[in-house]
Amino acid sequence: MIESYLKEKASLIDQSLDQITNELQNVPERLLESMRYSLLAGGKRLRPILVLATIESLGKNESIGVPFACAIEMIHTYSLIHDDLPAMDDDDFRRGRLTNHKVYGDAMAILAGDALLTEAFGLIVKGAKQANLSQDCLIRILEDAVCSAGASGMVGGQVRDILSDGTKLNLEQLEKIHRHKTGDLIAFSIRTGAHLGQASSDTLRALTQFAYYLGLAFQIQDDILDVVGDQEVIGKPVGSDEQKNKATYPAMLGLDQSREKLQQLIHEAKESISHLPDLNPDRLLQIADFLLHRDR
Ligand code: IPE
Ligand code: IPE
Ligand code: MG
Ligand code: MG
Ligand code: MG
Repeated sequence: MIESYLKEKASLIDQSLDQITNELQNVPERLLESMRYSLLAGGKRLRPILVLATIESLGKNESIGVPFACAIEMIHTYSLIHDDLPAMDDDDFRRGRLTNHKVYGDAMAILAGDALLTEAFGLIVKGAKQANLSQDCLIRILEDAVCSAGASGMVGGQVRDILSDGTKLNLEQLEKIHRHKTGDLIAFSIRTGAHLGQASSDTLRALTQFAYYLGLAFQIQDDILDVVGDQEVIGKPVGSDEQKNKATYPAMLGLDQSREKLQQLIHEAKESISHLPDLNPDRLLQIADFLLHRDR
């Protein structure tokens, strides 16, 4: 059931991203090709799906969320292109194909990332106009975008991640890295859905908590799959973290305890949204359960 929902929504996002990037004007051909190469390579589309599912859980029509959902996927894809660069994780495969810089070179990969990030903001504004969104709501979404993608958010998390290489972290420090490099964009996705679905402030708070539990769980599973995953299925190298001596949950706690932690976080995530007056949590709970067992 949830599998078919995820498949259907991922394909809606794929089609929308294809159309949105096709409509961009005056973009150098090679740049557009490089942007589309990574963007349309078929990721799981988890973040955009969370935008749509959150709107649905608030009893509103998800279609208003599509441009916002696509914008978040563009920001996420930019973060992946840069994450794979030789100066960062130096990985050769992503989403089942060669990484962007392996095909287009470092300079074009950097610029494709820059363009995806900037165009995402254009798309948020365009989506707000189309939906006749109140200025208040647009400003809330833009503020969240800056906080979650920027220097104190995902980029800050990536910096902490890099600076920690070769040092010994404690769990609290590792959790902080994960919270920002991964949790913030997941929280941004769910909070955007909450803003668009006009969640009450209590529900927004609960959804934010849900998002951070989910985000940490998601990164722990990413780290576990980096150890035990199937490269064909995850579409990126296995053993990349160990090779670079990255601080991860499996490296710090071992696989069994990491899995326990993952299970506990998914449980806490579900608890945090189970009893809210203006939210039907079913879809989000299904997604949380699905993430516990994901193999890609
Ligand atoms: C990978 O994200 C990077 C992390 C933040 C863990 P995803 O696992 O969502 O990658 P795609 O979008 O499906 O390729
Ligand atoms: C990266 O975490 C998170 C981002 C902000 C891109 P990882 O470095 O573990 O992501 P993968 O495993 O390369 O997808
Ligand atoms: Mg990384
Ligand atoms: Mg990486
Ligand atoms: Mg990883």
